[in-house]
Amino acid sequence: APDISVANVQAHLAQLYTVAQQNGGTRQAGTSGYTASLAYVKGKLQAAGYSVTEQSCTGCTNRGNNLIADWPGGPTDQVVMFGAHLDSVSAGPGINDNGSGSSSLLENALVLAQQNPTMAKHVRFAWWNGEEQGMQGSQFYVSQLGSAQRGAIKAYYNFDMVGSTNAGYFINNITSSAAAPMKEYWDSLNLRPEENIEGQGRSDDYSFQQAGIPTSAYATGADAIKTAAQATKWGGTANRSYDSCYHQSCDTTANINATALDRSADGVAYTLWKTAVGTTAPAN
Ligand code: PHE
Ligand code: CA
Ligand code: ZN
Ligand code: ZN
Ligand code: ZN
Repeated sequence: APDISVANVQAHLAQLYTVAQQNGGTRQAGTSGYTASLAYVKGKLQAAGYSVTEQSCTGCTNRGNNLIADWPGGPTDQVVMFGAHLDSVSAGPGINDNGSGSSSLLENALVLAQQNPTMAKHVRFAWWNGEEQGMQGSQFYVSQLGSAQRGAIKAYYNFDMVGSTNAGYFINNITSSAAAPMKEYWDSLNLRPEENIEGQGRSDDYSFQQAGIPTSAYATGADAIKTAAQATKWGGTANRSYDSCYHQSCDTTANINATALDRSADGVAYTLWKTAVGTTAPAN
């Protein structure tokens, strides 16, 4: 799998931060900051050759569009999905929550397009509206799927807060087969990841899980407290939250741990390659 440039991921974060600054300090669903965030991601994807669609989330309290991008390769009845919520809370610019997941997926999508490998499965990326109002964007997407479309999605991987300053290394459904590549990558870095207890049922993977689709996720922690054992294992500060700016105006580009962000973005690439890229020679 390719090594994702964390500098490139951070450049996307800087753009999303600028978007927030130019739109009243937020990228909340239903605001101009959300629309501008979507336009940024969509423009990059289209320039890279993606077929991109916007889905109006009519089931969302704060109306806005989900952004869905399919890489044109691999059998469309065998889909691996990677998703992140693109909306922030009203209080701040949402750079760790969830510029981090959004930008990690965007850079992965661009690298996939650049490398253009032969695909064994079809890859679909999604950026969700309305997560902060209760995972409404992803819930709406899943509710609109026909049974064949739903059955075609073999796994859904979620990325919500993957650059927390006082990072932990958490994986949802860590013992599941869907999680295996995610765990394999962090295990290879000797991170000894733990089950994401804090994040159970609290992000967009839950919408897919409820529909019976295998799911997993990376997260580096929100407002829960790092234990002494975790600080010994992962570094950082015991008895302090993983992200001390969670849902606050200080969730800016300064509120990012570049090491954690890089390990997450690289793990996306590892998982994407492991699950969806064929073993035959690249097309280029
Ligand atoms: N889904 C939460 C949010 O966006 C983030 C979160 C993830 C909180 C995992 C706790 C655990 O605010
Ligand atoms: Ca990297
Ligand atoms: Zn949030
Ligand atoms: Zn979030
Ligand atoms: Zn790295």
